[in-house]
Amino acid sequence: MRVVILDSTEAVSRFAADQVAGAIDRARETRKPPVLGLATGGTPLGLYNELVQRYRDGILSFADVFSFNLDEYVGLPPEHDQSYHYYMKESLFRHIDIRTENTSVPQTWNCDLPASAKAYETKISHAGGIDLQVLGIGTDGHIGFNEVGSSLASRTRLKTLTRQTRSDNARYFASIDEVPIAAITMGIATILEARSILLLATGANKAKAVAGCVEGAVSSGLPASALQLHPNVTIVVDRPAASLLQHTEYYEDSERVRAKLQSV
Ligand code: F6R
Repeated sequence: MRVVILDSTEAVSRFAADQVAGAIDRARETRKPPVLGLATGGTPLGLYNELVQRYRDGILSFADVFSFNLDEYVGLPPEHDQSYHYYMKESLFRHIDIRTENTSVPQTWNCDLPASAKAYETKISHAGGIDLQVLGIGTDGHIGFNEVGSSLASRTRLKTLTRQTRSDNARYFASIDEVPIAAITMGIATILEARSILLLATGANKAKAVAGCVEGAVSSGLPASALQLHPNVTIVVDRPAASLLQHTEYYEDSERVRAKLQSV
């Protein structure tokens, strides 16, 4: 795992945007349409603003990019302002040149939910798999809506949300009673099939989950710890989110060595 500790949330967003742009370029070099895995929530908003800015500055195009979102609530129509369909349209898609038909968010409205989850897996594999999967992390260590106890072999499926997740997300709704009770989410095994993974975390409320993800035992008790099994993961955090890591000095030494080796 590469662990990058930065001084501000803005620096985290800029670093993440560089990684996304790099993944798009590398896919194009292999003459393949780039495929991004995207997350919602508060954490990636800065990244999406940065990507929109780069598009407006004419330095980044999404014209041939395909995207797959991690998850979608069950029980909200796509036009609901708290659905992840709506979030993606408002935070990113309508501001850039990505083709709407190339964007995918799990379908959960008026459909057969297990069939929808299965179809999502097929769609990802027909697109050639995900080049770079962007992730946030829940305060309990969930990724996507793979809640504590999720099988490390899980695929896209229907998942009940924990009380912790519903209470963390209640800030976006009028009351906790309005927070959906379930979602369709990519599974942990689905996420681990991405060719590279970028997990972003900012703020002291993520410190415990980040420490468990990077330095804890691999366990379904902290789903993000499964990322230790993937050969190409970058964890980008600000200092408050890094505050419970034991090996900060080593991660910073590693970044200095990386920079030195790249400059020779
Ligand atoms: C969202 C998602 C979730 C969030 C996590 C952190 O698509 O998959 O795992 O990344 O709940 O959310 P924020 O960023 O709001 O703290």
